[in-house]
Amino acid sequence: MKEEKNKKENKESSLMEKIVSLCKRRGFVFQGSEIYGGLAGTYDWGHFGVALKNNIKQSWWKKFVDGRKDMYGVDAAILMRQEVWQATGHVANFADPFDGKQFNTMLKTQVGAGEEATTSYLRPETAQGMFVNFKNIIDFFHPKLPFGMAQIGKAFRNEIAPRDFLFRQREFEQMEIEYFVRSDDWEKYFKYWKGEMLDWMEEVGIDMGKVYELEVEDADRAHYSKRTIDFQFDFPFGRNELFGLAYRTDFDLKTHKLEYIDEEKGEKIVPHVIEPSMGMDRAVLALLLSVYTEDEKDGEIRSYLKFKPSIAPVICAVSPLLKNKLELVEYANTKVYAPLKAEFGRVAWDDNGNIGKRYRRQDEIGTPFCLVVDFDTLKDDTVTVRDRDTGKQERVKVVDLKNYIKEKII
Ligand code: GAP
Repeated sequence: MKEEKNKKENKESSLMEKIVSLCKRRGFVFQGSEIYGGLAGTYDWGHFGVALKNNIKQSWWKKFVDGRKDMYGVDAAILMRQEVWQATGHVANFADPFDGKQFNTMLKTQVGAGEEATTSYLRPETAQGMFVNFKNIIDFFHPKLPFGMAQIGKAFRNEIAPRDFLFRQREFEQMEIEYFVRSDDWEKYFKYWKGEMLDWMEEVGIDMGKVYELEVEDADRAHYSKRTIDFQFDFPFGRNELFGLAYRTDFDLKTHKLEYIDEEKGEKIVPHVIEPSMGMDRAVLALLLSVYTEDEKDGEIRSYLKFKPSIAPVICAVSPLLKNKLELVEYANTKVYAPLKAEFGRVAWDDNGNIGKRYRRQDEIGTPFCLVVDFDTLKDDTVTVRDRDTGKQERVKVVDLKNYIKEKII
């Protein structure tokens, strides 16, 4: 039994190492300030990592903002007046135990010079940027309850022990919604948002067999929450929080002395808040762990990222079979790459090494389709389309390529 457990632990820790090394090797994620020895808890995103994050953000924004009538987008400043964090209790309570004392994990900074200088904090959650804009949304749109505000942006925490790659960082991104409801309706919408969050996780390709719901105990909940569910994920380093769903009551709006005129009831009320909160970086990590696959091809182990085409950083790579044959390069460049690049953006040109090497490289990036222009192309205007997952190849007419790919993205 013990041996089995050790084996599983070794396999899991080597999975983490494989993911970290693939992310570096293929230009997804690098240690922050790496050439100066690294700054713990910070990471820099490379070309494919940015593309992956953008696709995840886009899918979130599309589902929760553009796809709905009742949601308003916000992009608030990261720096806020210190009074915000005093009012919300973050100055007093946002702390972790360190050396027997409570250590506040907000990152403090100075705004302005000399006598004008004031203390400010880099926001530890994007949420407050929305609450302080509540009145702007009310005055501008006069929304009826229930309605929500949504924001994607950076958050900062001076974590005492950043660890596990993207899991616990000092600078990270959140995708948060504050959904305003009448107090009587909170349970209904809490349940509703639980379903929406699960749907979205599945949509981006997170392995739902590794997701668990944890009812957070009274003592472990944030000071503002009356009920919290953590969506946990089976990470190689253990089951831990992926996202959170909280019932923040009327805590924040009351704190900021904000209210709402309920025309239906003909009175002033303070709406209650359901908050689906998702960490972008943990979403990326859970997704990488979900899609990382190894199989055997031609007696060799190959590793690849089985991203859905809608999320993959590169939708297709275009290659001339031989890079020193001008006719092939010219055709591939002008008739295949250029029009697809103009249409989809995330299209790669890959003429480095032999075809086998190119496939392996694109597999590791998670590119669903490799398009190869060969000598037959010059005769019949078709290209080879090679499928990442099955390795199968088919000939597709160049004129049909746009539609072929469009159908796969949906
Ligand atoms: N506004 C609510 C809030 O901030 P939280 O549970 O403290 O709640 C929400 O954070 C999400 O942000 C987490 O579920 C996680 O995905 C992400 N997150 C929190 N701390 C993080 C860190 N140090 N590094 C990376 N992601 C983090």
